[in-house]
Amino acid sequence: MNTTTTKSDQAEALDLHGSQALIDALNLAGEPKKSIALEATVKPNQADAPELTSAIALAESLEANELTDTLQQGTTESSEGPSGASPNLSLQRKPDAPGFTIEGSLEFVSLETMSPAERLSAFEHKVHPLIRRYEAGMYQMHTRLKTLDNDLEMRFKHNPINHVEKRIKSPRSIMEKMQRRGYPLTIDSLKENVLDIAGIRVVANYVDDVYSLVKLLFSQDDLQILKVKDYIAHPKENGYRSLHVVLRVPVYLTDGKHMVPVEIQFRTIAMDFWASLEHALRYKGAAEVTAIDMASELKNCADMIEDVEERMQILMRAVRTTEELELSKQDTDLVK
Ligand code: GTP
Ligand code: MG
Repeated sequence: MNTTTTKSDQAEALDLHGSQALIDALNLAGEPKKSIALEATVKPNQADAPELTSAIALAESLEANELTDTLQQGTTESSEGPSGASPNLSLQRKPDAPGFTIEGSLEFVSLETMSPAERLSAFEHKVHPLIRRYEAGMYQMHTRLKTLDNDLEMRFKHNPINHVEKRIKSPRSIMEKMQRRGYPLTIDSLKENVLDIAGIRVVANYVDDVYSLVKLLFSQDDLQILKVKDYIAHPKENGYRSLHVVLRVPVYLTDGKHMVPVEIQFRTIAMDFWASLEHALRYKGAAEVTAIDMASELKNCADMIEDVEERMQILMRAVRTTEELELSKQDTDLVK
């Protein structure tokens, strides 16, 4: 669906389920200078989720993006293959296999005849140059977040960020995800469907800090916000809470500008504590706790954490109000 609307419409259309802080963030102060294009997508497997998955593209950035964000399809990567990959495996027609390499695509018939190891090697070789773009996007966003944190520290004597983690998804994980979800193994499909190749996790101190950071990021007009999932206002059934934003950030490489998707997960220290345990229990298995109803115990923990966080947030707001009063008093003293 493509339609033209304004930023205020955009906030409404997003229907962020009463998450006022986010709606405020999108409804940036003042009248919008330009109309923007809104494209909202709810993927079939998310249609029953309470969270609305929205793709928002600022029209002017989109235009620029379409012109510049073209993959160097069909180019032959020479010495850039990852170590361990066998470049000559990847893009050649196998003499004994029917089919051809489709230029600029991973979808060549010989893939089907390859062993899993050969297929991974070919895939790694093909996506390697693209992955460096995602890495550049990840560093860009990391720097922007650090910059905001430093600026807030200087201006308000408050660091919203406790720490930041970042990672690039490995070619193996990317390929497995694409196969698991039935996406064609092509570069275009990768660019369209795998939006978490560059991932950043911002662990903030308080919930207010999460929303302040998101609001500040949303006001950076060269970013394209693609998806917002507010699992803080609307926790998942298992108790998972975090705020996920997928955006595109411009990166400038030797061949020009590229809009690179980056997934940023914002959460508090307490939410991170919970998510780490839940992840460990889910993926690593825990024989000693099988006697416990893990799911309901985790949900109880999540509820308790939410309650404690709310109470601590109220205390923190009181501290900050006092600090702000003191700061403004100092300012007044200075000008006397
Ligand atoms: P992908 O699964 O990454 O393609 O994204 P999605 O849009 O389908 O899912 P979503 O935005 O809900 O989750 C993205 C990421 O958030 C996951 O890969 C996890 O890192 C994290 N996450 C989501 N749900 C949970 C959860 O229930 N527990 C934990 N520990 N992490 C979660
Ligand atoms: Mg993911």
